Amino acid sequence: MSKMAAVMESGEDAFKQLFKFYKRRKPPPDFSEVINFSGNLCTGKVVPIKLNPTAVSDAAASRVGLRPALDWRAFGLQGCPGFIFISDPFRKDSQPFWIRQCLKTYPQKPNVCNLDMHMSPCDTQDIWERSVNSLSSPTPPRRQEKSLLERLRWVTLGYQYNWDTKLYSADHYTPFPADLQSLSQQIALGCGFGDFRPQAGILNYYRSDSSLGIHVDESELDHSCPLLSFCFGQSAIFLLGGKQRQDPPTAMFMHSGDVMVMSGQSRLFYHAVPRIVPANPSLFSSKLQNPPAPPDLQTQTTPLETNSVLEPVSEQDWAICLRYIESSRINVTVRQVLGPGQSFPHS
Ligand code: OGA
Ligand code: MN
Repeated sequence: MSKMAAVMESGEDAFKQLFKFYKRRKPPPDFSEVINFSGNLCTGKVVPIKLNPTAVSDAAASRVGLRPALDWRAFGLQGCPGFIFISDPFRKDSQPFWIRQCLKTYPQKPNVCNLDMHMSPCDTQDIWERSVNSLSSPTPPRRQEKSLLERLRWVTLGYQYNWDTKLYSADHYTPFPADLQSLSQQIALGCGFGDFRPQAGILNYYRSDSSLGIHVDESELDHSCPLLSFCFGQSAIFLLGGKQRQDPPTAMFMHSGDVMVMSGQSRLFYHAVPRIVPANPSLFSSKLQNPPAPPDLQTQTTPLETNSVLEPVSEQDWAICLRYIESSRINVTVRQVLGPGQSFPHS
């Protein structure tokens, strides 16, 4: 039987085969082919990319917790035009703020999360507060129900995404967080997308055994706008294929702080996350330093720097965040839904 016939017979295209390969538990797969943008890049597929560092001022980058754009290490992949991987452009002390936002702030109402699908809004109002007790106890109480935070799977921001219809709502919109908007715009600027407008966000929360199936993000009405993706917490394997399911995907590691931009042709490429991978403990802890908050009197109105969107993260909050990300991964995708001047079709 030809390879193609075998594939047709098993119903498995090239992407599905590699997805299953990296998802496998016993025996665990060989990771030696997985590209590690924060390690030695000896593979011929990776090409360094020159970004547009002068478009991003050092001050503007710093205000959202990014290093000067000249220091961003950006890469592309041969055969994936428009795909940009920026290896952790965050300032050493800024990831704790973004992680706290993803866990404490963005899940708050009026944003929508998976728990709202079967719980009333008053029960999903204070996910963080209701989870703090069980997450801060030294040993998890036996047979206690998982906290709301541990049951959080997704949060949607801006134009609300409907997972069943795969459509964005024209009339269900929650304000897109201003801080995440600023961060996204600085990344987009550096990548040459000065007019990017963040209009929808999807946060995905992964446990160590989670995965994300093979898909293309095509619900946005304008595919010429880039899609931004931010990773925090544990590492993962990302598979990026091509326009066809039969196109062989490239496997790469995503670590905390890594940012991906899918634009151009690769904006509509198949991709998936077959596996969460434990982060390297020493790299992980060196990246995730929470600067001590200034004494209480000063914190009231003083941001860390003039005009900075970053706020100090209290030691108590950071302890909860750390405990969470020690076994979990957070991914934030930021999307522009409508092209310039475009509006939702009338239904
Ligand atoms: C998505 C997505 C990738 C990730 O949310 O559409 O592809 O790294 N996420 O979680
Ligand atoms: Mn996607």
